Amino acid sequence: MSKEWHTASAPGKFVILGEHSVVYGKPAVVLATDRRITCSVRRSKRNTLNGEPIEFSKQPHFRYLTRNLRHAVDFVTRSDIPAGAGLGSSAALSAAVALALSTMAGNDPAERELVEEAYNAELAAQGSGSPMDASACVHGNGIGVNIPGCEDRKLWKFSRGGRSWCVSDIDVPDMTFVIGNTGIRAPTGPQVDKVRRFAKRSNFATEMIEEIGNITLSGYDALRKNDVETLGRMMLMDHKLLSILGVSCKELNKLVNASMPYSYGAKLTGSGGGGCMVALTDEPEKVASVIENRGGTAYIVSAGAQGARVEDGESQSPLFDVSSYE
Ligand code: PMV
Repeated sequence: MSKEWHTASAPGKFVILGEHSVVYGKPAVVLATDRRITCSVRRSKRNTLNGEPIEFSKQPHFRYLTRNLRHAVDFVTRSDIPAGAGLGSSAALSAAVALALSTMAGNDPAERELVEEAYNAELAAQGSGSPMDASACVHGNGIGVNIPGCEDRKLWKFSRGGRSWCVSDIDVPDMTFVIGNTGIRAPTGPQVDKVRRFAKRSNFATEMIEEIGNITLSGYDALRKNDVETLGRMMLMDHKLLSILGVSCKELNKLVNASMPYSYGAKLTGSGGGGCMVALTDEPEKVASVIENRGGTAYIVSAGAQGARVEDGESQSPLFDVSSYE
């Protein structure tokens, strides 16, 4: 490793309960995954990303994160988090880049500062949203958002546009989750906008959002008690409500339905419209196999990974196309 490179990584995440409704200040429960994005950075004569000149107009995360730099940089990124798949690729990228840049500047940022930087980078790219993903990808482990009674493990609070999000550390449950990727790329911004438009014109949508909040609290209670049956039921109910909100699709429904005979519950995870679903199961191999048989890609997840961290070593060539994270 050349000494001039500074490297950091951050994990992806999956949402057990509460995506979309969290944008409206409702609760959510999220776990970090063992899939990570790594970013190396060094001073340079011109800005490059993986050997190519950066087109900042097409790279809002990088544009935002380099806004205060007085010199050019080379970035090299490596990712095993598929982009636009609901696994927090955009937040993990933002967190890893922010930490690598901060390390290069000789700083050792607090988690709260990194979350703020990553959240703002995401807002620059997708326009609106909650600090849920940025919090999960920076902190790692597991996080709860707006969960009453979690104040003693509070990490930080963000407020924006009349909403606020109190983020706490939570215990990672000893449960097995399998993620199924439909392979359909679905950026977050349009899905968030879709729900916003629906909620604006319909009380029914607002009630669905409220109900997802209630389900999330019941599910979190079940998670704490290790009650997989109830948690699974809440996940499936959440999936149905998200489908009514219009953010599922037939491919996601297919993978959810195929997993159910071997799962306590399953649902889409992340912004939907494609991307991934997650199943809670005691039979991960069987769930993985039905997902693969239906044309999906299955990952048996190890939950509760470490958050953003400084790495020793320059990153290798990327596994996924990192030129257009949404
Ligand atoms: O699809 P992802 O990984 O970007 O997750 C989006 C989660 C939402 O709740 C839909 C949006 C948000 O900002 O919280």
